[in-house]
Amino acid sequence: MEERKKIFSGIQPTNTPTLGNYLGALQNWVKLQEDYDCTYSIVDLHSITVRQDPQRLKKQIYESYTLLLAMGVDPERSTAFVQSHNCHHAELSWVLSCFTQFGELSRMTQFKDKSAKHPENINAGLFTYPVLMAADILLYQADLVPVGIDQKQHLELSRDIAIRFNNIYGDVFVVPDAYIPKTTAKVASLQDPTKKMSKSDENPNASISVLDDRDTIIRKFKRAVTDSDTEIRYAPGKDGINNLMSIYSAVTGKTYEDIEKEFKGKGYGEFKLAVGEATADILAPVQSEYARLSADKKYIEECMKNGAEKAFKTSRKTLQKVYKKLGYIVL
Ligand code: TRP
Repeated sequence: MEERKKIFSGIQPTNTPTLGNYLGALQNWVKLQEDYDCTYSIVDLHSITVRQDPQRLKKQIYESYTLLLAMGVDPERSTAFVQSHNCHHAELSWVLSCFTQFGELSRMTQFKDKSAKHPENINAGLFTYPVLMAADILLYQADLVPVGIDQKQHLELSRDIAIRFNNIYGDVFVVPDAYIPKTTAKVASLQDPTKKMSKSDENPNASISVLDDRDTIIRKFKRAVTDSDTEIRYAPGKDGINNLMSIYSAVTGKTYEDIEKEFKGKGYGEFKLAVGEATADILAPVQSEYARLSADKKYIEECMKNGAEKAFKTSRKTLQKVYKKLGYIVL
């Protein structure tokens, strides 16, 4: 049998994923399992570049991991694990940091943005974060990495580090490519449709969490910012309606043409209600599976443990190869 290509991706556990994370990324993670050998990680080591409350962080790690399974990541078929359960990430990260230039990291736009936003805590971890991300990917010899546009620069850096290391030591790392899905639903904020829907938005009405209940979802869509026009059609300058159409299309599979026909002569209120209901409908099975799984902490911890063991076995091969190349004694 032909070996399947390898995929690696990670998500931070700091906030409950939004509808945007689900439609834009996580739903796709589930689909990719059909054709690829997938490794998915809750990247909790990455989270502490910003100060976290320990109790809340723990709760979020459980929640994020359980949600992955609830959405359909199969812990048997794929590898689903929590990053801090595999010590190789921190180890390879150190090695790779010695093959990454200060100047390269200084050019990362996310670092520049985040350090401008939080001048009180520009820690070294925030600076070297992309090196840890490179370690995540390179440890599993991933061919493809599904990432959003905001992570493309970090992925480019991972490639550069891999190529640089390979040029010195021979073929150690697979050089990963970004995986940009054919149909990416880009979901914007419901309060400012020129901005991306973000799980850290201060306005709770701006984003839908995948765990919001039906009434909350419908209420948030009702309050979504639109325009002073009345027609439901996809057009330049109608960012709010365009966003709602894109969400409705993603959750129902209908084309923009279908949607324009369906709502011809109808008002924004009716359309918003339909988007809210359809969104609540597709999240309902995820939420009920989440409720079922999260009642069984023992099972979740067992999956975490098995996932970490599988991840460890794979990443150990890479790390040992790296250590041997560097001249370390591998016993
Ligand atoms: N940096 C990514 C984010 O903030 C998360 C991440 C960490 C990641 N390691 C990764 C994504 C490896 C893809 C591959 O969204």
